[in-house]
Amino acid sequence: MIAVDIINQEAERAYKQMKITIYGSGYVGLVTGTCLAEVGNDVLCIDIDKQKIDNLNKGLLPIYEPGLEDLVKKNVAANRLNFSTDTEKGVNHGLFQFVAVGTPPDEDGSADLQYVLAVARSIGENMNDYRIIVNKSTVPVGTADKVKDTVNAVLASRGQNIEFDVVSNPEFLKEGAALDDFMKPDRVVVGTDNPRTAELLRALYTPFNRNRDRVLVMDIRSAELTKYAANALLATKISFMNELANMAEMLGADIENVRIGIGSDPRIGYKFIYPGCGYGGSCFPKDVQALERTATQIGYDAALLKAVESVNNRQKEVLFNKINRHFKGDLQGRKFALWGLAFKPNTDDMRAAPSRTLMEALWAQGATVKAYDPEAMKEAQRIYGDNCRDKKLVLCDSPEAALDNTDALIVVTEWNQFRSPNFKEMKSMLKQAVIFDGRNLYDPQFLIQEGFTYYAIGRNQPDK
Ligand SMILES: NC(=O)c1ccc[n+]([C@@H]2O[C@H](COP(=O)([O-])OP(=O)(O)OC[C@H]3O[C@@H](n4cnc5c(N)ncnc54)[C@H](O)[C@@H]3O)[C@@H](O)[C@H]2O)c1
Repeated sequence: MIAVDIINQEAERAYKQMKITIYGSGYVGLVTGTCLAEVGNDVLCIDIDKQKIDNLNKGLLPIYEPGLEDLVKKNVAANRLNFSTDTEKGVNHGLFQFVAVGTPPDEDGSADLQYVLAVARSIGENMNDYRIIVNKSTVPVGTADKVKDTVNAVLASRGQNIEFDVVSNPEFLKEGAALDDFMKPDRVVVGTDNPRTAELLRALYTPFNRNRDRVLVMDIRSAELTKYAANALLATKISFMNELANMAEMLGADIENVRIGIGSDPRIGYKFIYPGCGYGGSCFPKDVQALERTATQIGYDAALLKAVESVNNRQKEVLFNKINRHFKGDLQGRKFALWGLAFKPNTDDMRAAPSRTLMEALWAQGATVKAYDPEAMKEAQRIYGDNCRDKKLVLCDSPEAALDNTDALIVVTEWNQFRSPNFKEMKSMLKQAVIFDGRNLYDPQFLIQEGFTYYAIGRNQPDK
């Protein structure tokens, strides 16, 4: 069948079930596949990690994301969502071939495209009919061309000339609120040079567009850049506030008052202006870096992006520096309670988490850590199994158990359950009533009244 016939056939099927293949069953692929199945499509998720697929087939999820487990089970039971490691089956299944594999930083910080291009090669090796390759992974400008070239080269080596399109459809979901973000997106960016493909993507996303059309069709390069622009701007807001927080401490101002003072300006707003101990996660650090490397490659000096990255790297050391100063450089043999391991609440993701920078710095000075996180304990065990065996890291089953007999409490992730703890009980459990708060959760005046020495970010400094 030629491409136009298939497109027409699929256009007729719009609002009806479509066949979709998703490569990558991580945070983005699994959420995308599940939500597309939930609205009635026939979705096949492919991953090269056999263990992950075996577990998914048993109903065991590789990640924690609120609400996802129930939705996966529901759609598997309805036979709209299936999992496999069989790439050939994947290529034959969906007209839409979604790519949602990882794009981790390369050695020099640019995005490593090996997984994206491996998917492109397998599509080229196995396709027999028109396919739309939809790139959801975050990739540098020009990647769609590389995907196209890769597929074409493989097709040429097979002596085949089969039509296909490559679309950029970057994902904007937030871990911790991923289902809501996918089901009720602010916008769906579709980068394509083919109007008919744009219409098909629009049809695919129609169920998520109930009260207004959120699909923004643009050229491929702009779509690719839009994703980096969004993450880089959000990271810039955080680094800006952290810079101001550090200055506030030196100037004797309270950054929380400053935050409220500027957020009330509707041009600024309250979102994403929380000072803290640095941003982490699988996106902001690597995406700011990759965009900055892209700038270098095209001969542009991206001074702002470099500053955003270096301010953040410095901010991840702020808590350690406060701790080290408080204990006058004597950390050997000290035990610290750590509340929060995940890079933010409502996820188990610890990629580039500030907790990691902090724990590693404490261990290097001979201190040990007793940690609690509602969801990231398994992930911490996976990453730091050796440190757990050496008792440098003790994973505790409650926030209270982490406090017992430690020199101070350090708060790194703003999980709801850490917001209103029983301070009296905490004081009796800690060897010293000292709190280092990397997320400004508590009222300094109250804690001082309760007899705590309280360090926060950009607020009162007990040692000043
Ligand atoms: N995590 C987020 O919040 C988020 C949000 C928006 C965009 N993104 C972007 O989406 C992409 C995926 O991120 P993630 O967090 O879901 O990654 P992830 O590491 O959770 O998942 C990636 C999955 O891809 C699989 N994979 C690798 N090569 C494969 C192949 N050839 N075929 C099939 N599967 C393969 C891996 O085994 C893994 O399970 C990245 O580019 C990321 O920057 C992530």
